[in-house]
Amino acid sequence: MWFFFSPKVVFGDEAINYLQNIKGDKCFIVTDKNIKDLGMVKILTDALDTCGKQYEIFAEVLPDPHEEDIMKGKGACITYSPDIIIGLGGGSVIDTAKAIWAMNEFPNFAIDDLHPFNEELLSLGKKTTMVAIPTTSGTGAEATWAIIVSRFQNGVWVKLEQSHKSCIPHYAILDPVFTKGMPPKLTVATAFDALAHSFEGITSDWKNEYSNAMCLKAIELIFKWLPIAVKDGKNIEARDHLHQAANMAGMGFGNSQVHIGHALGHSWGAIFHTPHGLSVGIFLKYILMYLINNPDENDIGKQILGKLSKQLGWAEWRDDNRSSANIIIEKIKQLEKECEFPQTLKEIGVSKEDIEQNSDMIVSLCYQSPSCVMSPRSPDSEDYKKLLLYAYEGKDIDF
Ligand SMILES: [Fe+2]
Repeated sequence: MWFFFSPKVVFGDEAINYLQNIKGDKCFIVTDKNIKDLGMVKILTDALDTCGKQYEIFAEVLPDPHEEDIMKGKGACITYSPDIIIGLGGGSVIDTAKAIWAMNEFPNFAIDDLHPFNEELLSLGKKTTMVAIPTTSGTGAEATWAIIVSRFQNGVWVKLEQSHKSCIPHYAILDPVFTKGMPPKLTVATAFDALAHSFEGITSDWKNEYSNAMCLKAIELIFKWLPIAVKDGKNIEARDHLHQAANMAGMGFGNSQVHIGHALGHSWGAIFHTPHGLSVGIFLKYILMYLINNPDENDIGKQILGKLSKQLGWAEWRDDNRSSANIIIEKIKQLEKECEFPQTLKEIGVSKEDIEQNSDMIVSLCYQSPSCVMSPRSPDSEDYKKLLLYAYEGKDIDF
């Protein structure tokens, strides 16, 4: 038995107006100060005013949301007692909204109770409707059951990867009006997060035909539309397609898994506080090269990537898997250059000494990450350290 879970997806121009069809009067809006200052909360509240819904705004979410802030939101939500919870923002906001949603319905729960084996959570969603409205095209948080929470533990901010399959929002509203103002750098970094979701999702040990379909289409759309959106951020067609792609990537990895790129990205981010899309995006081509180099004769990573390259029309069907898979690496390098995305860790201002001093901790955090076990090739600690150094220097993986 396997499964494919997803929210109901409303997408395209004026998708925000679908809110009038969602039952309930009182809305608890979870967002952040930046989103509010950019006028996006106003777009949402205007839509709610039009359909006569009431609302309260909790705009205190910070990047990499801390447990304490989420608990504050939980308290405010319980006091307001809404019919609908709306997460308006990037991944941090939507993850916070999902955690608040779960703990609003189960007030005795804390963050540690949001785990896959909590059977009580199977009835989540009976009391309140959860609506996720992403304002970036990257995390796919509106489509997944994962909730990433930062907790200060043993001297570092550890990213807890909480999850429960009932934590998928009821609705994902993908309106490009919220992304058309995204600056190019953020557009690219978040799109590379979605690209990482797609490539890791399609090679993960938990891949399946449904998740494969989502990941494949997301990759195709990102390669086509990202350069257009970078050149012309106001191009609604490009924004719309990138928004759909990030959502598909979310459904892809949400029903499969990410693996060592995200294990490395989360662990790196815990130490150096690099934005998520930037860290997982930089690691992407290095971990794919690592999969392609798997010496195991029964390795399937290379086969998957070789086939993917052919499905995307980048290689001929008669080509062998290794050379076809290698084209993917070249395509990623081209996209990085075209969109001015950093190709190495060196470019984001970290020194080699910083890496050497922290590599044991990063490797230890990788092993603590649930993502690390889903890769078709599992690095040992020496491989993890080499991946870090190669990604720092920009060297092609040769091991
Ligand atoms: Fe991600």
